[in-house]
Amino acid sequence: MNILVIGTGYVGTTTALVFAELGWNVTGLDTDAQKIQQLEKGVLYFYEPGLEELLKKHLSSGQIRFTTNKEKAIQDHEIIFICVGTPSRPDGSADMRYVKQVAEDIGQTMNGYKLVITKSTVPVGTQEQVTLWIQAAQKGSYPFDVASNPEFLREGKALTDALNPDRVIIGSNSKKAANLLQTLYQSAKCPVVVTTPRTAELIKYASNAFLATKISYMNELARLCDQLGVNIKEVANGIGLDPRIGPSFLHAGIGYGGSCFPKDVSALILAAKQNNIELSILEKVVYVNQTQHLYLLEKARERLKSFANKKIAVLGLAFKPDTDDIREAPALRIIESLLKEQANVYVYDPVAKLPADLHYGSVTASNELEEAVKDADAVFLCTEWPIFRNVDWAKMKSIMNQPNMFDGRNVLDSREMNSNGYFYHGIGYE
Ligand code: UDX
Repeated sequence: MNILVIGTGYVGTTTALVFAELGWNVTGLDTDAQKIQQLEKGVLYFYEPGLEELLKKHLSSGQIRFTTNKEKAIQDHEIIFICVGTPSRPDGSADMRYVKQVAEDIGQTMNGYKLVITKSTVPVGTQEQVTLWIQAAQKGSYPFDVASNPEFLREGKALTDALNPDRVIIGSNSKKAANLLQTLYQSAKCPVVVTTPRTAELIKYASNAFLATKISYMNELARLCDQLGVNIKEVANGIGLDPRIGPSFLHAGIGYGGSCFPKDVSALILAAKQNNIELSILEKVVYVNQTQHLYLLEKARERLKSFANKKIAVLGLAFKPDTDDIREAPALRIIESLLKEQANVYVYDPVAKLPADLHYGSVTASNELEEAVKDADAVFLCTEWPIFRNVDWAKMKSIMNQPNMFDGRNVLDSREMNSNGYFYHGIGYE
């Protein structure tokens, strides 16, 4: 079976490469000619471990190719994955204009049976909507199915996640479509759940919202831990041993970021509201997340009295390690607050870059960690890049103005930091 993947963004490129790795012939289609030219040369425009190697491998094996010719691509393929973006509108709802455009292109161009699958995170009811868009655009009356097959991969671990999924969710009302999708995933060593399209679409939102809930719960509990003199990491360890709770996503810090959790939680709250349901737990999840960085800032303010004219080093910009993605990154919220309080902010991240359109005032991007930390009055650790754990902090102390460490990811050893002469504050962890 030949597969067409429309949209060569993060999800599209990963999906295309993973299907190529599973042995299928894959074509990636995008309207952005520059992006396609880069991909044809084996160059990724985003950072994701292992993906560029896989791209080069399958370009030479001939298993993957790229094109901007949508008519030919749609006509040549029976199986079409829609992986275009669904950005947030100002009200938090998903902007479906790119999905609509693709559905109309498919309708206008199709020349025989097509199985159209949505992979992007899309609102519940999208499968029905895409069906209507294709129908309305059709010139002939070719048969087609629309199915939902949400993606659960994490940035930074996209390849491992996509090659070893813990479940495959297929939302389809058509036996033929479900069978075709099951064939595509025949080598998957995990449960393959076939359900209705609406259920599949909701499973995606419900998974992300549940994980975000776990994080906000731990983040709020961490504030209590500080008051009680209890270590949140030990609490996480203790509760995580209960298999009903599980050990993952219990790591307290300055909050979640990225392109998925913030957007998906807001979209789910909004969708519920439109159906006269108040998802009050999720509203609190968002509230805790939006205030969590302020909590660490308050701890730092208590210590420094004022940030004005102090040199502050922010280590880590990406919303998490192993990615250059800074969308909704808590580090940006910390930087913005510090700048508002007239701090001199120096930022170091091993991969991520400061956004070009930063309006916060002057931030210095340091090429070296030492440059950011030298003469600093405090360090805010915002992303748990492994290199930050391996820094010789005892040595760093000698180049700082004041050895204050505010660890927004609870990754350094507090006892070691204290014995090195630091004032150390994590979140629910001192
Ligand atoms: C998430 C989902 O995990 C993935 O299944 C979905 O397809 C897309 O959204 P991603 O956004 O790449 O993936 O990152 P993830 O590893 O889930 O982390 C999200 C955020 O939560 C990060 O900012 C991370 O630092 C934070 N986090 C995660 C915590 O603060 N504590 C934790 O215990 C786990």
